Amino acid sequence: NQLLDEVRQMTAANAEEVEQLRLKYLSKKGAITALMNDFRNVPANQKKTVGMKINELKQIAQERINQLKTDTETVECDAQHIDLTRTPYPIGLGTRHPLTIVTNEIIDIFSRMGFVLADGPEVEDDLHVFTRMNFAADHPARDMQDTFFVSQHPNDVTKNILLRSHTSSVQARVMETTQPPIRIICPGRVYRNEAITARAHCFFHQVEGLYIDKNVSFTDLKQVLLSFAREMFGADTKIRLRPSYFPFTEPSAEMDISCFICGGEGCGFCKHTGWVEILGCGMVDPNVLEQCGIDSSVYSGYAFGMGVERITNLKYQVSDLRMFSENDVRFLHEFESAD
Ligand code: PHE
Repeated sequence: NQLLDEVRQMTAANAEEVEQLRLKYLSKKGAITALMNDFRNVPANQKKTVGMKINELKQIAQERINQLKTDTETVECDAQHIDLTRTPYPIGLGTRHPLTIVTNEIIDIFSRMGFVLADGPEVEDDLHVFTRMNFAADHPARDMQDTFFVSQHPNDVTKNILLRSHTSSVQARVMETTQPPIRIICPGRVYRNEAITARAHCFFHQVEGLYIDKNVSFTDLKQVLLSFAREMFGADTKIRLRPSYFPFTEPSAEMDISCFICGGEGCGFCKHTGWVEILGCGMVDPNVLEQCGIDSSVYSGYAFGMGVERITNLKYQVSDLRMFSENDVRFLHEFESAD
């Protein structure tokens, strides 16, 4: 019985150890063979049971050794095929997403001009997305941004929960809690209820900027945007500001840059105008400052906001907006050298 236990628990790491086991139990001088040689001394009335037991033991030992033999053979055969000096299997490196590359570039340019990063939630309340930004409760401009609502409050629209439609909500949050000087940029994802096409998507990315201090003027805004455009699109870039409207800025403007493909001469890319639109901007409306607890008789400020997809499309001439969210690695790999 003790031998039986031993035999059942036999292990071997290689062919040589298997051979040792065979010698120990099954060879001419092995323990099991010795038992068999002793068999004649067993009393006749016990021969049957003892004989069966010995045969069982021999069979189990044989099977176990055969099993160990095949096991060690396969291990050794695998070991022969593993070349530890070989270069590891080539695992493809990922690339940064083009929107991340461009966002980082924008952040980099503005941080060199003293802007610091600010962040806020994507699921926001109406208060920060609209009310603090000077959208009156029944102001038609609330419809300007095709909002996705998460939950609507029956009596108080300022409590509605929604997906932010611009990162101006981050500006509101910073102004609420910080006294000027404030100089921030807010990059992030925003959502608008639009059909998904090559030119529009239900979400996109923005970088908005805000500067509030004493005596901030429109000239300061223009200078900062000109520096940005030159850093981003080349030193020869010209800008032009066209009057526009946003509830939260007064006056408001839209900024075009001279087309960097034709240098402003006019080409298919800029629809032969020589200009391409890249952002919205303006002087922060005093109502916004007051809403957020900043004294508009002391402070003034400017704000601007741009779409990262738009800037990326211009820089890299991506023709279909949907490519940014499909995560096709072939598309992403095209931006390997841009990073
Ligand atoms: N929030 C505006 C938008 O999403 C962009 C903007 C920001 C315009 C700041 C002016 C000033 O369209």
